[in-house]
Amino acid sequence: MKETVIVLDFGGQYNQLIARRVRECNVYCEILPYTVPIERIREIDPKGIIFTGGPNSVYDESSPHYTPEIFELGIPILGICYGCQLMAYSLGGEVVSAEDNSVSEYGKTDTAYRTDNILFKNLPDSGISWMSHRDYISQPPEGFVVTAATAHCPVAAMANDKKKLYGVQFHPEVNHTQNGKKMLRSFLYNVCECEGTWKMDNFIDTTVAQIKEQVGDKGVVLGLSGGVDSSVAAALLSKAIGKQLTCVFVDQGLMRKDEGDFVENTFTKLFDMNFVRVNCQDEFLAKLKGITDPEEKRNIIGTEFFNVFWNKIRESYGSGFFAQGTIYPDRIESGKGDAAKIKTHHNQVEVPKDIKFEDIIEPLKDLFKDEVRAVGEKLGLPHELVWRQPFPGPGLGVRVIGEITAERVKILQEADAIFRDEMKKSGYAEKMSQFFVVLPGVKTVGVMGDARTYDELVAIRAVTTDDFMTADWAKIPYDILGSVSNRIINEVEHVNRVVYDITSKPPGTVEWE
Ligand code: XMP
Repeated sequence: MKETVIVLDFGGQYNQLIARRVRECNVYCEILPYTVPIERIREIDPKGIIFTGGPNSVYDESSPHYTPEIFELGIPILGICYGCQLMAYSLGGEVVSAEDNSVSEYGKTDTAYRTDNILFKNLPDSGISWMSHRDYISQPPEGFVVTAATAHCPVAAMANDKKKLYGVQFHPEVNHTQNGKKMLRSFLYNVCECEGTWKMDNFIDTTVAQIKEQVGDKGVVLGLSGGVDSSVAAALLSKAIGKQLTCVFVDQGLMRKDEGDFVENTFTKLFDMNFVRVNCQDEFLAKLKGITDPEEKRNIIGTEFFNVFWNKIRESYGSGFFAQGTIYPDRIESGKGDAAKIKTHHNQVEVPKDIKFEDIIEPLKDLFKDEVRAVGEKLGLPHELVWRQPFPGPGLGVRVIGEITAERVKILQEADAIFRDEMKKSGYAEKMSQFFVVLPGVKTVGVMGDARTYDELVAIRAVTTDDFMTADWAKIPYDILGSVSNRIINEVEHVNRVVYDITSKPPGTVEWE
């Protein structure tokens, strides 16, 4: 059993960040919605629980609450922001609902700590913390002591050491909180007594053993896109079961220019794996004809992928397992569990009823992107492969907005190739987490060679991010943007305008669909 910490999600904006911070401390953690039954928590038997922040007031009728039984499990709990207020409120403390903004705190705040408390031990007795709250705790519950305060917040942290219950009004997971990571670490190691077993070496060993046991002497077909996730999954499975694995690369006609050849070359020359390329551009385009709704497109593409893989399994092995490189954020953003559905990642669509895989193997399903890359490096994958920018499974299908046709895909491929070329030449490609071109399906008027044009607009998108759960739009110098725009308009037929997408995530997502 791996030691686990549960991040109980009350809807705050930093939930993913909390989870990543915990994992950075070598402790495995899972985010569960606040609707999870307490029996499930008992079953997991976590070393600790962290209540996240959330946008509500504990007094709102619709605000998320949790059964107070959780405080009786004997499991250490750390409440953050709303989570701290909820802990105080549930245990009989006083939370003041601030009607006005006079006592609210947003941003960097001077905070005094009691360093005799286990959470703040060996840290300075004052420092900046990151606050974002209106309501505040005026009186901690019985059995608690106040362990931090600010000018406006009498209870910036509270502790009941006997019951191992802790609360902080500020956000230790955010970089702006000085020593915040050390506070989280102290909770994990000194309070929860974690041992820190979540390391990528251990992950590889245990996952390889699990795969071997699960697969036995059967065959596995892996959906390989050539992206980081499926490549790392391929390496992991190959380590576990060698030639019982067949990697199937589906060229569905929605790849970037020359991508199909790149993937084929990489996987036939670099690795000793069974590799199959299936060219089925026409079949995919036929299925997508006339479809404009993004979720419908994603579902069609995902379902078609399953059909191709199923055919390969039957052809190669008669029956067998299907494997794919799903990672943790794919599942979260696809709205598995109670999280809101943002978009259905292609590998999260339902398997058609007539397809009977032995099972689906997703060895990376609990990992964040940076963890996947660490696994890839440990497995000895080449740097360029591990650090490739991600490319969505539905490919250019989610970048051709509206109906997907061969002509429109071609326009996008050409424009995208120019953008990539210019970014590479300028040295900016390395500095970006992801960049690409989108064809929104908007026509605008222009003038070229004294004549009127009425043609397509393309948008260029570039982002920087650590984890792809949040992202900043990239500040590419104007002269590079200018060259990209000039070349696209001059070289790509049917494009007469280029715009730059300056939306961060949130509120945007990285892809447009
Ligand atoms: P979004 O658009 O959700 O993208 O902000 C976050 C990251 O995920 C990639 N992405 C996908 N990857 N299948 C994938 O394998 C998909 O269906 C999918 N949709 C988005 C996206 O390119 C970005 O890196």
